[in-house]
Amino acid sequence: MAIDQPATRPANPRFSSGPCAKPPVFNLNNLSDAPLGRSHRAAVGKAKLLKAIEDTREILGVPADYRIGIVPASDTGAFEMAMWSLLGERPAEMVAWESFGAGWVTDVVKQLKIDATTHTAEYGEIVDMAALNYDNDVCFTWNGTTSGVRMPNGDAIPADRAGLTLCDATSAAFAMDLPWDKLDVTTFSWQKVLGGEAAHGMLILSPRAVERLESYTPAWPLPKIFRMTKGGKLIEGIFKGETINTPSMLCVEDYLQALEWARSVGGLKGLIARADANTKAIADFVDAHDWIEFLATDPAIRSNTSVCLKFNDARITDGAAFAKAVANRLADADVALDIGAYRDAPAGLRIWCGGTIETLDIEAMLPWLAWAFETEINA
Ligand SMILES: Cc1ncc(COP(=O)(O)O)c(C=O)c1O
Repeated sequence: MAIDQPATRPANPRFSSGPCAKPPVFNLNNLSDAPLGRSHRAAVGKAKLLKAIEDTREILGVPADYRIGIVPASDTGAFEMAMWSLLGERPAEMVAWESFGAGWVTDVVKQLKIDATTHTAEYGEIVDMAALNYDNDVCFTWNGTTSGVRMPNGDAIPADRAGLTLCDATSAAFAMDLPWDKLDVTTFSWQKVLGGEAAHGMLILSPRAVERLESYTPAWPLPKIFRMTKGGKLIEGIFKGETINTPSMLCVEDYLQALEWARSVGGLKGLIARADANTKAIADFVDAHDWIEFLATDPAIRSNTSVCLKFNDARITDGAAFAKAVANRLADADVALDIGAYRDAPAGLRIWCGGTIETLDIEAMLPWLAWAFETEINA
């Protein structure tokens, strides 16, 4: 059945899963308070960096005794820093249900060569987190950005574990409830749910993670960019805004503005509600059309940020080519940009639903998806 192009377009066609859409109020002119051309170690720069840390703490509800640091190289930098600094004291349990988790497995097994047990699940499914040995250190990703599968909650993680839990939460933070008492290391980057800029990572450490840092020295050398201790003591300054190397104060200003916007929509609760509403709009569309479905079949583990979909129409012969053609039609019509599935993931679409996305834009885009599907099938 051929259908006409819908009459309405999304006001913002940016549905990329990273860098993600800027907050709806974003305007370059709002960044004019950035202390450009000044030292990040001057009082003005340090105050901005400390505010970024403390506003993060307030909005995410991070406990007062957890350290929060701004570190180099985005989420990857933060997670690598944690793995290389903390792991090796005991065996590790490596958990992966999509591409990014698999990357951390490679680091630990092939680079650090730690005694590790690897637990994997197919795209669209999740590992049984209750079956892990929490006397070991556990590395996992809260939301699998490339499969659209997330942890339903932290109930499987015991409160009295002997090992540490290291959690890559980059596409979860600011969109999902994170149980801080179950997480010893949490990392994310600014470019995801808050629509900040790339290259800066956030590293959140529990008191037990700090204890490990101060009591254990890895057998391998650590580059300056990873070093969090000096003389066996935590370098506390890192967690007060005295960054290891030079951050971009323009990006810091942008992150501060994003945090301010987050507060204006009701903080974490408001952000979760926005992401849930966006995901529900897609779920309603999927329910109404029999040619599309979620990659994650179990609603309990479906992401509310990186929503991954697949086509299941019997007329499709080459799934990857079809999904790409649909995504291209939507991009060419300027109604949905960057929504092709991740390169290592099963063929399909991935539509970002984090809080910076307006539900009206998702709702305006979905009829275009139906149009692109029908047009492509007819072609
Ligand atoms: C789960 C996950 N981990 C790590 C990364 C890498 O993030 P970054 O490029 O900010 O280092 C991404 C990026 O999409 C991700 O989704």
